[in-house]
Amino acid sequence: MDSTRESALLRASEILLRSWRSFDNSRHGQPVASTSTEELTRQSLPARPEPIDVVLASAEEILDESLAQARPRFFAFVGSSGLEAGVLGDMLAAAHDINLATTAQAADLIEEQTVRWVGELVGYPSAGGFFTSGGMISNLTALAAARERALPGAREHGIERGGGAIYASADAHASIRRAGEVLGLGSQRIRAVPIDHQRRMDAVALEGMLEADRASGVTPIAIVATAGTTLAGAVDPINDLADVAERHGVWLHVDGAYGLPAAASPLVGELFAGLDRADSVSVDAHKWLFVPKACGCLMVRDPRSLGAAFAHDSGYMLHDQDRARHPVDSTLEYSRPFRALKLWMALRTYGADAFRLALTRNLQQARLLAELVRQEESLELLLDPALSIVLYRHVAATGDLDDHNRRLVKALQEDGRVWVSDASLDGTTCLRPCIVNYRTSDDDIRELVRVTVEVGARLTREGD
Ligand SMILES: Cc1ncc(COP(=O)(O)O)c(C=O)c1O
Repeated sequence: MDSTRESALLRASEILLRSWRSFDNSRHGQPVASTSTEELTRQSLPARPEPIDVVLASAEEILDESLAQARPRFFAFVGSSGLEAGVLGDMLAAAHDINLATTAQAADLIEEQTVRWVGELVGYPSAGGFFTSGGMISNLTALAAARERALPGAREHGIERGGGAIYASADAHASIRRAGEVLGLGSQRIRAVPIDHQRRMDAVALEGMLEADRASGVTPIAIVATAGTTLAGAVDPINDLADVAERHGVWLHVDGAYGLPAAASPLVGELFAGLDRADSVSVDAHKWLFVPKACGCLMVRDPRSLGAAFAHDSGYMLHDQDRARHPVDSTLEYSRPFRALKLWMALRTYGADAFRLALTRNLQQARLLAELVRQEESLELLLDPALSIVLYRHVAATGDLDDHNRRLVKALQEDGRVWVSDASLDGTTCLRPCIVNYRTSDDDIRELVRVTVEVGARLTREGD
């Protein structure tokens, strides 16, 4: 670098501080990519060095022109919010660039401790687990272990005739289907179990499907309970599903990628009863535990099940005498950064009570939003929120309401005061704000409703 480390670090920390200050409050509008950014992206591979100050300034501009989920009125998707102690943890972890594929000494101990802490926070007596790149990989990892338990030798011989099936609610995340595809079951063997009026998996229907499969020679591999569906935040009845799993000797996985942190809040904790009976549980700290991506956490009741699915010997990675296994013998990923550090630092810096409080506040804000929507004549609430996702639409229009709401979301994004995404609930197009940011205030929620009504009315005036 052309500068001293001290000066580069000072510049970087000034940029960080400006970002954090700008995230404290919402901003009016979202800048699009500037002409200077566009020019920059046309440049070819730089052969010669540039001053680090210039490169940092470019990075600051690019970040500012990109959509940051950290902003308090970014309501689209179940994302993370760049919790500050977590950001510092990521910075430090990147500097040391530890690889948790092989034994990494103190970092291994911290990863183990943080998995335990996550279990304690959500109420799962985890016997082991790992940090992953997120819900997709956590789900795939757990289901690979379940496949090996249900069909021993499948990792070696593949899936023989008859095959296996995985049961998840019709609203389960697409990562479950993808896991089934990757594991060689085929997406048709990911049974979509019907849901009730609260969009929770129907345990009776599940048992019927499972028995029908068994009768026709298909081996049930796993039941996946979703603890907070991505579309509507529904929490499947884990206890009832655990009963079915126990009766049939089937692996129970809980996909809590988005919603499971809410188990730590006294407001809705009872929704997650039965969690302790699961064989595996996934939760993404990079969603509703606020730390930066990526920070998925997979917990299991029997860590040997992961070894059975993944352990291997390679000439380039011999096992030492003291520790029979490397972490990579239990994980799907090979190179794994020290993802636990940012969560470990955040849990220590703020304390678990602050997390419980922030989660409870987000849950209350979802109820506030639902109430405000109910009070607005021009809006319609489509479902009472179980957690922190609120589905509603603007109905004061004369034309096709689905088309109107699609245009409304686009107009809101162009307006930029609030950022929401659209969704389809059984074919009805709606807005789907997800409240998962500790920076979001009650005023931000009121502004979301005010801006929706204002922009919705303008569209109606202009077009309908
Ligand atoms: C319930 C659920 N499972 C899995 C995932 C996938 O998580 P990731 O994007 O971290 O892989 C998501 C993402 O939103 C989710 O909501």
